[in-house]
Amino acid sequence: MASEYNFVWFNGDTRMGLQQKGMHGAWASRWTFIMAATGSAVGLGNMWKFPYVAGSNGGGAFVLVYLGCILLIGVPVMMAEVLIGRHGRQSPINSMREAVTDSGANAQWQVVGWLGVLAGMLILSFYSVIAGWALDYIFLISSGDLQGVNGAAASAKFSELLSDPSRLIMWQSVFMVLCVAVVVGGVKKGLGIAVETLMPLLFVMLLLLLVFSILKGNFSAAVNFLFSFDLDALTWRGILEAMGQAFFTLSIGMGAIMAYGAYMPQDANIGKTILIVALFDSSVAIISGLIIFSIVFATPGIEPTEGPGLMFISLPVAFGSMPGGLLIGAIFFVLVSIAAWSSAISLLEPCVAWLMEAKNIGRARANIVIAGTAWVLGLGSVFSFNIWADYKVAGFNFFDFLDFLTANIMLPISGLLITLFVGYVLKKDVIDVEMEGTSPQLLALWQMTIRYIAPSAIAVVFIMGVYDKFFV
Ligand code: PFF
Repeated sequence: MASEYNFVWFNGDTRMGLQQKGMHGAWASRWTFIMAATGSAVGLGNMWKFPYVAGSNGGGAFVLVYLGCILLIGVPVMMAEVLIGRHGRQSPINSMREAVTDSGANAQWQVVGWLGVLAGMLILSFYSVIAGWALDYIFLISSGDLQGVNGAAASAKFSELLSDPSRLIMWQSVFMVLCVAVVVGGVKKGLGIAVETLMPLLFVMLLLLLVFSILKGNFSAAVNFLFSFDLDALTWRGILEAMGQAFFTLSIGMGAIMAYGAYMPQDANIGKTILIVALFDSSVAIISGLIIFSIVFATPGIEPTEGPGLMFISLPVAFGSMPGGLLIGAIFFVLVSIAAWSSAISLLEPCVAWLMEAKNIGRARANIVIAGTAWVLGLGSVFSFNIWADYKVAGFNFFDFLDFLTANIMLPISGLLITLFVGYVLKKDVIDVEMEGTSPQLLALWQMTIRYIAPSAIAVVFIMGVYDKFFV
C-alpha cells in the first residue's frame, strides 16, 4: 500500500487520504532539511541528557568516546538512513520495504522498521515527561520562586516537582497535546517557522549563557572535566552509554532521520549535509555541558553526578543570580521546550505513519492512539520519580529501564542492522544514485566505515557493555 506519510510541515499539505509515493513533496531546500534534521536531533538529549550522563561517567573519557561514536558510527549510520529514506521517498517502514525488495533481499530485514517504531513509542513516553519538567520550569522561574537560590534550595525545588505526580502528569499531558496538535494539524506555519527561527535563537541564548558561565562560573574546571581524557576511568558500560547517547542525540536507529531523508532534495549531497547536522548537534551538547559544569563547579552542594536533575538544579542557580535572570531563565526553558517539541514530533510521526499504513486508519485517529499509548506508558516514568521510586529491577526504576533499553539496546541493534543492510545487502545501483557527486575517496571511506568499522564497533561495545552492566 502506498504510504500516507504526509510530511506536512514543509509542503503544507494537510489533506487526509492515501498519497502516492513521491507526492509528499520535498523540503524547500537543503537548508530546510538541515534545520528539520537539526530540529529532530537537538533536543533534551543535548541539553539535559548529555551533561548528566557525562557527569555520571566521569567526564572527559566519556566525552572522547561519545565524539568518536558520533564520527565513526553516528555519521555513517545517519547517512545510510537518509540514503534509504531518499531512495524510497515514503514512510520509514515502506522505504525500508522498498530497499529490501529492490535488492532482492530477505523480507526479514524489515524488522529494522518495526524496531524503530517500537523504540520511538517507548522514547516518546518518557521524553514527554522530561519535556514536562521544562514546561513547569518556565512558570517556576517566572514566578520568582527561584530568585537568588543556592544549590541546596534549587535541589529542594526540583525534588518538590518530582514528588508531585499530578503536577508531572499535567505538564506531560500539555506537552503531548502540543505534539499531537502539530502532527495532526499540519506544521508548515507552526513547527516549520518555529524550527527555522527558534533554533538559531536557542543557539544565540546558549552562547550568551556560555559567556555568563565564563565570567561567573568555574569555566576552567568545566573544560578540565569535559576534556581531560583519563582513559582509566572508562568502563565498558560507560562506553556503551556513550554509544547509546550518540544514537539518541542524532535521532538515529528508529526511522526519524530516514523519514526526513525521504524529503531531501535529490541534488543535495548526503555526506556534507549530514556532517553539518552532526556538527550542530555536537556543538549544542558540548556548549550545554560547558555551561552546566561551569555552574556546577562554582556552586557548593551540586555534584556532577547529580543525575537527571542536573540541568534543572544548576541552571536556576545561575539564572537566580544574574541581572534579568528571571526573564532569561524563562526564555531559556521556553527554548528547551521548543527543542524538545521538534524532537518529539519526529518521534511521533514515524509511529503514526506506521499505524495508518498497518491499520488503514486516518491521521487523527492514529495520532490519538499512539500519543495515548505513549502517555499511559509515560505514567510509569512519572511514578518512578515518586510513588514507585522504590520499585527497582536490576537497579533500574521504570524510567531508567526504558532509557537504558531504548538508547543502549534497541537503537544500537537497529543501527547495527542498518550498517549490515547498507554495507552488504543494498543494491549497488541505489547507492550509486544516492551518493552521486561524492568524491570517490569519501565514498570509499564511508563504505569502509559502514561495512567494517561501524558494525564491529557497535557489536563489540554492545556485547562488552551489556556483559559489564549485568554480569560483572
Ligand atoms: N535526538 C533527540 C534529542 O537529542 O533530544 C531525541 C530523539 C528524537 C531520539 C528523535 C530519537 C528520535 F528518533
